Amino acid sequence: MSIQLFDQSVNGIKMRVSVSGSGPPLLFVHGFPLNHHMWKAQIDWFQNHFTVIAPDLRGFGDTEITQGTISMKQHADDMNALLDSLKIEEPVIFCGLSMGGYIAWEFWNHFALRLHALILCDTRSGSDSEEGINNRLKMVNLVLNHGPKSISSSMIPNLISEASQRDYPDLTKGLMDMIESTDREGIAASQRGMAERKDFTERLIDIRTPTLLIVGSEDRLTPPQVMKPMSSQLADAEYCEVPGAGHMSPMEAPIFVNEAMEAFLASC
Ligand code: MLT
Repeated sequence: MSIQLFDQSVNGIKMRVSVSGSGPPLLFVHGFPLNHHMWKAQIDWFQNHFTVIAPDLRGFGDTEITQGTISMKQHADDMNALLDSLKIEEPVIFCGLSMGGYIAWEFWNHFALRLHALILCDTRSGSDSEEGINNRLKMVNLVLNHGPKSISSSMIPNLISEASQRDYPDLTKGLMDMIESTDREGIAASQRGMAERKDFTERLIDIRTPTLLIVGSEDRLTPPQVMKPMSSQLADAEYCEVPGAGHMSPMEAPIFVNEAMEAFLASC
């Protein structure tokens, strides 16, 4: 099956998007500070039965950058405009990892009728503490002054588990390459946007969309203790823990994660 990679005009910018397969639309929204390549194992797997859409978000990968602050609402607006421009009318399965999950809450908030199901990997519904916001703003200064290489190696232990670092050296290299190829202004703009994102915890109860929550058992950034309670707060949710994986569970345990996603999709 061939993957089409092209630039699409979206909300005044050129957005790079990968589209492959045919069938119900399945939208993959990447984490920070990565790009659509993080979903390679899912694109390869799901394109046999779905129209798989995997963009580089504004400021990441090969998509144009806008400076300043890029809010999670702006990213959600971009996803809505992308679906319009691709003429996708059917409700989508929205699969987001971490920052992709923050964007999913905003997408639900503004475009709920466009959602068929949610798959949320390694994310949280809450906003940041004051300390968390300060850490983000420190990263903004660091990356603007010294570039993405100044953050890449220190991010790895938070992204993948010790076992994944030991067993899959290519995974570490792939993540470092993605981070280091990201434009510093794009990183800064979404980091500022995450610092001011809304807290959706009180609203989970209103989300009626069938949802699958996936988390690596060793995730340090959004651990099972953060994700498991969300499964009882959401109206219609399933919870899946990925043994041995860290924050990047779809990359670290692709077969396990793909099978969990497939079983969930067959049931909804
Ligand atoms: C991500 O993986 O997208 C980040 O961990 C999100 C964040 O910094 O909160």
